Amino acid sequence: MSLVAKTTGVRDALRFHFRGGEVALNRFSPRATVLDWLRKEMGAKGTKEGCAEGDCGACTVVLARLRGRRLAYEPFNACILLLGQIDGAELITIEDLAAGGELHPLQQAMVDYHASQCGFCTPGIVMSLFAAYHSGAPQTYAGLCDQLAGNLCRCTGYRPILAAALKTCNGAPADRFAATARERAAALSALADNRDVFAGDETAFFAAPASLDSLAALYARFPDATLVGGATDVGLWITKQLRDLKRVIWLGRVAGLDVVGESPDGALSLGAGVTLTDAAPLLGAIHPDLGELLRRFGSVQVRASGTVGGNIANGSPIGDLAPALIALGGRVVLRKGATIRVRPLEDFFIAYGKQDRDFGEFVTAVETPRLAARQHYRAFKVSKRFDEDISAIMLAARIDVHGRRIAGARLACGGMAATPKRAANAERALIDANLDQPASWRAASAALSQDFTPLTDQRASAAYRMTVAANLLEKALLEISGAGAPTRIGMLHAAE
Ligand SMILES: Cc1cc2nc3c(=O)[nH]c(=O)nc-3n(C[C@H](O)[C@H](O)[C@H](O)COP(=O)(O)OP(=O)(O)OC[C@H]3O[C@@H](n4cnc5c(N)ncnc54)[C@H](O)[C@@H]3O)c2cc1C
Ligand code: FES
Ligand code: FES
Repeated sequence: MSLVAKTTGVRDALRFHFRGGEVALNRFSPRATVLDWLRKEMGAKGTKEGCAEGDCGACTVVLARLRGRRLAYEPFNACILLLGQIDGAELITIEDLAAGGELHPLQQAMVDYHASQCGFCTPGIVMSLFAAYHSGAPQTYAGLCDQLAGNLCRCTGYRPILAAALKTCNGAPADRFAATARERAAALSALADNRDVFAGDETAFFAAPASLDSLAALYARFPDATLVGGATDVGLWITKQLRDLKRVIWLGRVAGLDVVGESPDGALSLGAGVTLTDAAPLLGAIHPDLGELLRRFGSVQVRASGTVGGNIANGSPIGDLAPALIALGGRVVLRKGATIRVRPLEDFFIAYGKQDRDFGEFVTAVETPRLAARQHYRAFKVSKRFDEDISAIMLAARIDVHGRRIAGARLACGGMAATPKRAANAERALIDANLDQPASWRAASAALSQDFTPLTDQRASAAYRMTVAANLLEKALLEISGAGAPTRIGMLHAAE
């Protein structure tokens, strides 16, 4: 018997807004991307395909969603965004910007500032800037550089693009989207229901449960289904590995999964569905290095879509949140059916590609203690490219001090082993070291070679990884001891 028939109140079609009308789709492939739908089904070829893996931004579209009573505009990479993920949103593409034969102010500024040559990147760049234009936030040079970190331009160069953006993206938006905001918000509000979505049948479906209980029941019934948070990993399984995903459960509509709260011991609790964009200021409030880490996590498009839960559940040895939160003493909250269990984050990662997650079990939240008095923290990401690059090495350290004595240490690394991993030997070597005596902590740097046997791959050699990890630990300790001033590339960037 099909789930649709068994469950009352289930909606069997996606609903979203596009070009002034409501679109309802109940026949679509669960692995269809927004880009394919636009280009192949709608003939809307203004949105380009470059890399098909979320890197170049040529495919950037904007989704407007209701946040409270306001419309929030965010850019997404349509190449790795599943069609089902736009349920409840308004999809805006480059073709929608000009109106009545007149270019949008952003498009006009791009022309005026000679900000486009071959033009392949231009639609994506304009759409990223369109999101900034509607953000309501004052735009700075540095902020606009971040906004465009996920949009590659190979021929124009960014100077004229940024000049066009600075000219246009400040002040209250004055385009037809601003003029129609109230009506469009009302239209989206009419789409918002609390019904589970299940489009397809038992063999192939796209489902978007509306509650944790629905999700638990559905996943228990189809434990082989692919869970999708933001699809910034799963999207690449489709476009690069050509995987034929037949059963997809999207988590983006599950009420309660995007909740931020506090666990009973006062730890920050981030629901698995909280996006990296939303997590950034919360983690940045724990320590500025976490804010900087999140700023360099993918791009604005990747952070708008990618989730905290996806970054942990994917088990990646080079994911950024895992080492950062392991060092803080983070935990993962899992649910299967009605059973909930909480595990220390470091124990969740068992081996390469293997996590402590049972069939039919999913991540509901990630919890992280905040820093107590006398606890110091540092997190460093080293990647080949500053922006939008996966870590070659990531080191995070929490150092607990008593006076000038190190009383405890939690060190975690990414990119140094098959999983994100604690450095137990180096941690032990730090106990009783004295912050005023660098020689007393040098054994810890050396002990890292007992903790890790890194690989050589395209991102870095084993020797480079080992040397850099030791240097990062030394840097952390020098900063914490007060002997070395903190230096971050972002400090230069922000000063521009
Ligand atoms: C261009 C680009 C740049 C990137 N840069 C970075 C970077 O700088 N740092 C970094 O760490 N990563 C980076 N990533 C990887 C990716 O964006 C992150 O890992 C992201 O957090 C994944 O989250 P998601 O919600 O998109 O996961 P999805 O793709 O939706 O899912 C990832 C995996 O987790 C599973 N899953 C998702 N949610 C749950 C859940 N609640 N319970 C159980 N399983 C679940 C899925 O089934 C899948 O196996 C990048 C990716 C791209 C495309
Ligand atoms: S085509 Fe490159 S990010 Fe989508
Ligand atoms: S104008 Fe050619 S890639 Fe940007």
